[in-house]
Amino acid sequence: MEIHNLFLKNWVQEMESLCTPKNVYWCDGSQEEYNRLCEDMVEAGTFIRLNEEKRPNCFLARSHPSDVARVEDRTFICTSNQEDVGPTNNWFDIDPMKEKLGNLFKGCMAGRTMYVIPFSMGPLNSPISHIGVQISDSPYVVVNQRIMTRMGKEVLNILGDKNNFIKCMHSVGMPLINNQKDISWPCAPNPEDKYIVHFPEERTIWSYGSGYGGNALLGKKCFALRIASKMANEEGWLAEHMLILGLEDPNGQTTYVGAAFPSACGKTNLAMMMPPEGFEGWKVKTVGDDIAWIKPDKDGKFRAINPEAGFFGVAPGTSYSTNPNAMEMLKNNCIFTNVALTDDGDVWWEGMDGDPPSHAIDWQGNEWTPNSDKKAAHPNARFTVPSSQCPSLDEDWENPEGVSIEAFIFGGRLSKTFPLVYESFNWDHGIFMASTMGSEATAAAINQASIRRDPFAMLPFCGYNMAQHWRHWLDLGHKYHKSSPKIFRVNWFRKDSEGNFLWPGFGENMRILKWIIDRVKGKVSAKSNSFGLVPNFEDIIWSGLEFDNEKFSSLIEIPKTEGLKEIDEVKEHFDRFGDFIPSELELQITQLEERLNNEI
Ligand code: OXD
Ligand code: MN
Repeated sequence: MEIHNLFLKNWVQEMESLCTPKNVYWCDGSQEEYNRLCEDMVEAGTFIRLNEEKRPNCFLARSHPSDVARVEDRTFICTSNQEDVGPTNNWFDIDPMKEKLGNLFKGCMAGRTMYVIPFSMGPLNSPISHIGVQISDSPYVVVNQRIMTRMGKEVLNILGDKNNFIKCMHSVGMPLINNQKDISWPCAPNPEDKYIVHFPEERTIWSYGSGYGGNALLGKKCFALRIASKMANEEGWLAEHMLILGLEDPNGQTTYVGAAFPSACGKTNLAMMMPPEGFEGWKVKTVGDDIAWIKPDKDGKFRAINPEAGFFGVAPGTSYSTNPNAMEMLKNNCIFTNVALTDDGDVWWEGMDGDPPSHAIDWQGNEWTPNSDKKAAHPNARFTVPSSQCPSLDEDWENPEGVSIEAFIFGGRLSKTFPLVYESFNWDHGIFMASTMGSEATAAAINQASIRRDPFAMLPFCGYNMAQHWRHWLDLGHKYHKSSPKIFRVNWFRKDSEGNFLWPGFGENMRILKWIIDRVKGKVSAKSNSFGLVPNFEDIIWSGLEFDNEKFSSLIEIPKTEGLKEIDEVKEHFDRFGDFIPSELELQITQLEERLNNEI
C-alpha cells in the first residue's frame, strides 16, 4: 500500500524506530486480510476455530488469566494542570509519564509485526465522525478493530494529507528476544506493568501491557470516550457512554433516545429489546449499545451517531430470554473471548438457554462439568460481532447526519428511594439528575447499601474534570434551549422490604420507554413529586402484565427520610469537586430540600 500522508508516515517511522518490530504491516481492512490473520492466529494457538456448521466463521480466544478486563487503576490522564482531570481520574504529569512510556516502548515489539490500523469512529462520510490510527503488535487487536470500527484503506483516502488523526499507540508488552517462543495471549502479566495513558492536550493514547477489550481496542473507551469527551468539550458537542435506540410506533414514526447506564447494567439488552405483549406493531431499533457522539445541527437538534461498527458485549447472561436479538446475531462471523468451549466445538456461557453442557473446556482451558466450583466462562467474557448482523438494527444507523435525539435517559441500579421513572422539571434539573446518578456498590445488605456515584455513567470515561463536564452540558442546554431533548431518570431495580424486585425489567421496560415517548410528544400529563415528574398509573400500557396501582405507587414514591438522606450524600459527592461545581447544581440541592420539606 502506498502511503502519501507525511504526518502519518513520519509518526509510523518514529514508532518503528522506538519499538523495533520485526516488520511493519499496513492494514487494508479487506476480508482476505481478516481471514488470513484469523488463520495465522489459529496456527499460533491464539484462536480456536469453532464448529463450522454450528458457528460458521467464528473463533474463540482465551486471554491470559491476568488480562481479563479494563484496568481502571492503571488508567491515567496526563495534563499540564492536575485540576483539569478532576478528583475522579488518575492524573500524571506529562513529562515523567512520557519518559516512562519511552522506556517501556523501547524495543517492545522485538520479534513481532507492527500493524498500522487506520480506522474511522463513525460512518466514513459523516461530519460527526473522526479518524484514528492505531499501531499495535497484536493481530487479535487488528481483527477486533475490523469489526468494531470502519477500518482500512478507505480511511486513509478520507484522511488525505491531513494531520487530524488521533494517534493510538499499543503494545501487548512482551517483546520476543533471542528467538523466544511466543505464547497464545502475550501481555505484561503484572498489573503494575500495564499502562493505559491519555494525553488529551495532544490527543494521543499510549497503551502498554494488555491485549484485552477497552485496554487494547483503543477506538472504544480511550478514544471515543476519554479523548473525544475532551474534544467535545472544546468544540461544542458531546461524547457519551450512551446507547442509542429508536422506538417505532405502529404508524411507522420513530423517536430516538440516548440512554446512559453504568457498565454492567444491561445496556446491550435494552438497545436490542423485544417489545412485550401489548405492544403489537411497535419496534425497538438499535443504533448503538455503548457510545454516542452527539452534535447539535444548524437547527439546534441533537444529532447522534454510534461511532462504533460492532458490539463488544458481555456474553454471560445473554440468552433468548434476556436478549433474543443478540443470540441471533451471534450465529456467525464472531470472535468470542473467554467463553467455554463445548465438546461439539461450540461456545457456552453461564445464563445461556437450556441445561448446561455435561462437559466443556472452561475459559482457562481446563476440563469443566456442571459440578465444577468454577465458572465455565469468565464473568467478563465477550463477543465481538459486526453491528450489521443485529436483527433489530435501525435502517438509519449509518446515516452520516446521525439521528435526532429527543430524550436522554439516565439510569442506575438502586434498590430504594429512586422512582422507576421520573422526568426533570427543566434542563438544569435534568443535569442535576444525571450528575448525581449512581449504583449501589453491593446489593447484599439493602439497608446499608451505599451508592457509588457514577455521574452520566462516565466515571471511568470522562477525560477531564467531571464538574466541567456538567458545566458543558448545562451550557449546551442553555444555548439550544428551544430544541434540547427532555431528560429522564429510570431505575429498574427498586426492591420491596423483603428484598424482592418490584419491577420485572427486561422487555417490560418498553412500557416505561413508551411513557417517555408520550411525554416527548406531549401526549400525556405527569404529576410532580419531590424528585421530578412521574407518570399517572393510567398513562402506562398495562395489557399483558398484571400490575396494580398500589404496587406502582410503591415504585414511584420517595419516603421523606430517604430523600433527605440522598441530599446529604449528594452534598458529600459534590464536595469532592470544590469550586468547580456549577452554581445551577447547588441551587438544585436547595430546591430539592424545599420540595422534600414541603412534602411535594
Ligand atoms: C463496557 C464498559 O465494556 O462500560 O462497555 O465497561
Ligand atoms: Mn460501556
